[in-house]
Amino acid sequence: NTKAFIFDLDGVIVDTAKYHFLAWKKIANELGFEFTHENNELLKGVSRVRSLDIILELGKVEASQEDKNRWLVQKNEDYLSYLVDMDESEILPGVMPILNYLKERNQLIALGSASKNARPILEKTGTLSYFDAIVDGNDVSNAKPDPEVFLLAAKLLNIKPEDSIVFEDSVAGIQAANIGGMVSVGIGEASTLHEAKYIFKDFTQMDKTFIDTLIK
Ligand code: G6P
Ligand code: MG
Repeated sequence: NTKAFIFDLDGVIVDTAKYHFLAWKKIANELGFEFTHENNELLKGVSRVRSLDIILELGKVEASQEDKNRWLVQKNEDYLSYLVDMDESEILPGVMPILNYLKERNQLIALGSASKNARPILEKTGTLSYFDAIVDGNDVSNAKPDPEVFLLAAKLLNIKPEDSIVFEDSVAGIQAANIGGMVSVGIGEASTLHEAKYIFKDFTQMDKTFIDTLIK
């Protein structure tokens, strides 16, 4: 059977979560408060605009729209500066074998990411051509845990939500997949991603027989 395999980008295909973290941390520190890895879990899968609001809430900072716009620009410039030298070495372990196996089995592959920087990242890492559909932060108006991004990806592939599998590293993304009626697969810590139907620490822990059981 043909299924839709929908991949989140940041923290699933590429190790960019660390760069988002550094860029947000810099802004928090400039505003005079700490920003921990634990805080950062709240931002995973969340849009840029919403991420800033969460950070300002954490630091109890009141800001004008003008200030917010400035920080949003600063965050993205900082983030992009980390991506200048990005290449295929930043693809997370085990991702390429799974992408190749899905192709071998004639499955459909989509991207479902909140990021507005998704396409250049796929280009730089040489993974763009694997995707039959790309839905990113430029295409949707409702952020995860709203399932819009995944539902649109499945629709573009002409596959029903229940025949779609979502790979996600964020709590918001797992919730979005579940709300959308898709099979959620968490990539990361079981303690964080316990709402997922299946959880793997990373793609090296996922074998072809797991994919086979999803396809049949
Ligand atoms: C992903 C990441 C978030 C990021 C969001 C927007 O969901 O997990 O950390 O804030 O995309 O990304 P962007 O590249 O548009 O700022
Ligand atoms: Mg992610």
